[in-house]
Amino acid sequence: MDVLIQKAELVHVASLVELFLLVERQHEAYWPLRWQLRADISDRYHRWITGNLDKSDWLFAVALNGSRVVGGVAAGMQQEIPIYAYDRYAFIHDVAVAADFRRQGVATKLVEFVRQWSMEGGVNQLRLMAADANTSARELFSRLGFRTTYHEMVLPMVPGRECARL
Ligand SMILES: CC(C)(COP(=O)(O)OP(=O)(O)OC[C@H]1O[C@@H](n2cnc3c(N)ncnc32)[C@H](O)[C@@H]1OP(=O)(O)O)[C@@H](O)C(=O)NCCC(=O)NCCS
Repeated sequence: MDVLIQKAELVHVASLVELFLLVERQHEAYWPLRWQLRADISDRYHRWITGNLDKSDWLFAVALNGSRVVGGVAAGMQQEIPIYAYDRYAFIHDVAVAADFRRQGVATKLVEFVRQWSMEGGVNQLRLMAADANTSARELFSRLGFRTTYHEMVLPMVPGRECARL
């Protein structure tokens, strides 16, 4: 199936939000404490994307099959704290592919599009967070050459329960 990757335009934003909500709902189902969504997430996503669509530090890209958005990615340049030998890095916030277009290399093409944009932006690394429970995403990114660095660890705040060695 023919899939073209390009920068997102205003007309693509609603479909992009729908795709990204798939990822967010998947995360919320893993553990609501960490990923619970706001009721108006859809509007917030719309505002966030449309407000940054034309900014040079942001990249919103779509995978198009004809006029249908079958995949999307959101990435941005981030500032690092001033102790490392570099100032900025590129970060993928969301990537998602429609269920009927998976395992056909669409995510691979989207990540490659971001990689090229990151290189042109002069940074030496592209980062992302993949949930531990999301084995398909972890498999995808390992396959593309990403290396695991941190493991995020979350301690729920339970009144009356101290931090203790178990
Ligand atoms: C994860 C996701 C983006 C992958 O998209 P995709 O277009 O199917 O990925 P690709 O076709 O480019 O896959 C490339 C390789 O990644 C690995 N991979 C992708 N999906 C996989 C899966 N479900 N299980 C195991 N490995 C997988 C495979 O090695 C695959 O190569 P192969 O098909 O030759 O075996 C897609 O499944 C998705 O949208 N999931 C829901 C949203 C999500 O979890 N996003 C990631 C958030 S961090």
